Amino acid sequence: MVDKAMSNIHRTRFPLSITKLLFFTLMLLSLILLFLFGSPPSTAAWESSVRQSATPASSKALTVLVTGAAGFVGTHVSIALKRRGDGVVGIDNFNSYYEASLKRARSDLLARHGVLVVNGDINDASLLNSLLEVVKFSHVMHLAAQAGVRYAMINPKSYVHSNIAGLVSVLEACKNANPQPAIVWASSSSVYGLNSKVPFSEKDRTDRPASLYAATKKAGEEIAHSYNHIYGLSITGLRFFTVYGPWGRPDMAYFLFTKNILKGKQVAVFEGPNGGSVARDFTYIDDIVKGCLGALDTASKSTGSGGKKNGPAQLRVYNLGNTSPVPVSKLVSTLEKLLKVNAKKKVLAMPSNGDVILTHANITLARNDLGYRPTTDFETGLSKFVHWYTQYYSSSASRANTV
Ligand SMILES: NC(=O)c1ccc[n+]([C@@H]2O[C@H](COP(=O)([O-])OP(=O)(O)OC[C@H]3O[C@@H](n4cnc5c(N)ncnc54)[C@H](O)[C@@H]3O)[C@@H](O)[C@H]2O)c1
Repeated sequence: MVDKAMSNIHRTRFPLSITKLLFFTLMLLSLILLFLFGSPPSTAAWESSVRQSATPASSKALTVLVTGAAGFVGTHVSIALKRRGDGVVGIDNFNSYYEASLKRARSDLLARHGVLVVNGDINDASLLNSLLEVVKFSHVMHLAAQAGVRYAMINPKSYVHSNIAGLVSVLEACKNANPQPAIVWASSSSVYGLNSKVPFSEKDRTDRPASLYAATKKAGEEIAHSYNHIYGLSITGLRFFTVYGPWGRPDMAYFLFTKNILKGKQVAVFEGPNGGSVARDFTYIDDIVKGCLGALDTASKSTGSGGKKNGPAQLRVYNLGNTSPVPVSKLVSTLEKLLKVNAKKKVLAMPSNGDVILTHANITLARNDLGYRPTTDFETGLSKFVHWYTQYYSSSASRANTV
C-alpha cells in the first residue's frame, strides 16, 4: 500500500517539477531578451508618448511638466503653453474631491491639444523620477494641490498629503534631476490670513493663517525657501487670488451659486461682523495664465545639479490678483442678470471655518517683474463662465445630474 502511495506521489511530482523547470527557463529567456532588446513594449510606448507630448515646436521653447494638469488652472496653463509651442506633459491623480468627470473632460480637451496627462500621484517618487529621466524638463509648473478652505475641516490629511508631502516629493525629484528644472508653483492669497491691511502686499505678514489650507500653502513657501537655499533650485511662488472662469472648480462660490440659482435652490450669502460685506478679488483665468507664463519666462535657471548646489538661485513670491474686490452681493446680482433668473438669497453670518472677510491684491511686483496686467473685468469674465457652464452642462443630460 505504502509503495503504491509513494509511486503515486512520485508520478504526480514529476510533471510538476517539469512545469517548474519550463516556467523558470521561460522567465530566464524573457529576462535575457529584455536585457538584449530593451524595455518591454508597454514601457517603450509610454516613454514615447511622454516624449512626444514634451517635444517643443522650436529649440528655444520651454519643456514643462505641469502637475495638477487636469485641474482648473492646470488645464488652462497647459493649453496656453502648448499653443505657443512649448512641450508639455501633465500629471494628475484625478482624485474625487470634486466630480471626476469634469477632470476627465479637461484631460480629453488636453489630449485634443496634444498634451498627455499621466494618471499618477505626485507622491509617487519613482513615477516623478521616471518622467524627469525620460524628458529633461526645463521647467516644472506645480499646480497639484488639495484646494478649498472649508474641506480642510472634513479631510485635513488630504492637505498634508498633497500640499506638504506632495510638494516635498516634487522638490526632491527636481533637486535630483540633472539639469534641475526651474520651478513655478501655486501658493495662495490665503497665506495673508488674518492680515487686515489692504491691499495685500508681498511684504505683509503671512504668519497668521486662518485655515489649514492656508497653513499648508504658507508651509510650502518655507519649504521652497529651504530647497532653494540648500540645493540651488530656482523657485517662484504665485499667490493666486480667487481664480474663476470656464472649466472652473465646482466647489467655488461662483460655480455653486450658478448651479443653485439655475436649480431654484437657495443661495447662502455670507456677511461679515456687523453686517459688513464679504468680498473677493476675483481674477479671471486668462489673466492668471498670463501671470503663470510670465513667471515661467522670467525664471532663472536652477544652479544645482544632481542634488548639489553650485551657487545662489532665484527665489520669488508674487501676488496674482485683479486689484478690485467684488462683494458677494455683486456676485449674486451679476449672476441673476446673466442667467436671467432671480436668486433665492439667504443672508447668513459668515461661519468661522477658515474663510476671511476680504481679499485684495497689490500687484505692483508682478507688474514690474513679470509684465502681469490683468485685463478682464468681473462682468465680462463671469459671462464667459456662464456661457461655458450652460453649454457644458446642457450638452449631456447625465452630466447635469452629476453636478
Ligand atoms: N482656483 C483658485 O482660486 C486658487 C486660488 C489660490 C490658489 N490656488 C492654487 O492653484 C492650484 C490649482 O488650483 P485649481 O483651482 O486648478 O484646483 P484643482 O483642484 O482644479 O486642481 C488641482 C489638481 O491637482 C490634482 N491633485 C491633487 N492632489 C494631487 C496629488 N497628490 N497628485 C497628483 N495630482 C493631484 C487634482 O486632481 C486636481 O486636478 C492649487 O495649488 C491651488 O491650491 C487656486
